[in-house]
Amino acid sequence: MAILVTGGAGYIGSHMTYALVDRGEKVVVLDNLSTGVLGLVSPEARFVEGTIGEPGVIDSVLSQHEIEAVVHFAGSIVVPESVANPSKYYRNNTAASAALIEACVRHGVRNFIFSSTAAVYGMPQETVVPEDITPAPINPYGRSKLMTEWMLQDVSHAHDFRFVALRYFNVAGADPAGRTGQSTPNATHLIKRACQTALGHYPYLEIFGQDFDTPDGTGVRDYIHVSDLVAAHLLALDHLRGGGASNIFNVGYGQGFSVRQVVSAVEAVTGKPVPVRESPRRLGDPGMLVADSSRLQDRLKWKPEHNDLKGIIRTAYEWERRLNSRV
Ligand code: UD1
Repeated sequence: MAILVTGGAGYIGSHMTYALVDRGEKVVVLDNLSTGVLGLVSPEARFVEGTIGEPGVIDSVLSQHEIEAVVHFAGSIVVPESVANPSKYYRNNTAASAALIEACVRHGVRNFIFSSTAAVYGMPQETVVPEDITPAPINPYGRSKLMTEWMLQDVSHAHDFRFVALRYFNVAGADPAGRTGQSTPNATHLIKRACQTALGHYPYLEIFGQDFDTPDGTGVRDYIHVSDLVAAHLLALDHLRGGGASNIFNVGYGQGFSVRQVVSAVEAVTGKPVPVRESPRRLGDPGMLVADSSRLQDRLKWKPEHNDLKGIIRTAYEWERRLNSRV
């Protein structure tokens, strides 16, 4: 039996694929390479190029391989783009997930792990957000993901099908072994951008918004190392395999850093200046999002091992230098 990783040529999916093959799992990666990079896929995984929503693609993968579980990363992730082009997000995230879930039910695939997001919370009142507050996304990206969570819940009630949805906070850093990292061209993530600015790719980093209700006025996020996020997926897989119930878990460290704090940390780690420019808020950006991940720690026994902002930045920066030297 194999694990199907959709979006396995992407940033997080490629880390997950390595983690699975590292522990001896058989992995099939499905990715349309729209933002993914083939070179990031572990050579030990079987690679299939294709788009989930296209007719026949999923059926063909699920009939050709004995798939025991699906880990679904494929999708679009850029919040401002989702505001400008919502249909793309409902197509790539919601509609594609609907097709994938339906095909799983048809082919008897009963275990499903879904990449959800802290963006489902919108602008919560809580400084640290637990899973059971009412989600209230403020952008199409968050809504497109929340709709998928709802489909998963409904389908799990109607069929022999269980899921874990992981609501990621801000994922950053790279494989400590240097095999993969964030490689999306024009990526918008703060830590990647700041590292690229330190390396001179950009003349300055824009700070989007200085008037949020946060200690220094800039956006506060819970940055989590991709390896700890992947570890949560492995625990979720074991949980479902062991007959565990469907559930939704936050994945974050419970500690927030502002944009300015991240910039200072990048300067400290790299020893290089990161010039900044103050810009207006980005469309759809909340001020502060920090995870309460006690459910994940209690139920799945998740123990973060890389909870250190500078360590996260160090691996992200090493990866950025590696990408540089390939150019
Ligand atoms: C969002 C999504 C997250 C998704 C990610 C992918 C939310 C709550 N989360 O995270 O699920 O995985 O996008 O793109 O919507 N910033 C700057 N300058 C920059 C880049 C970012 O000031 O050049 C600021 C942002 O305004 C924000 C913080 O840094 O306050 C983090 O931004 P980013 O890394 O893009 O992630 P989110 O938008 O928080």
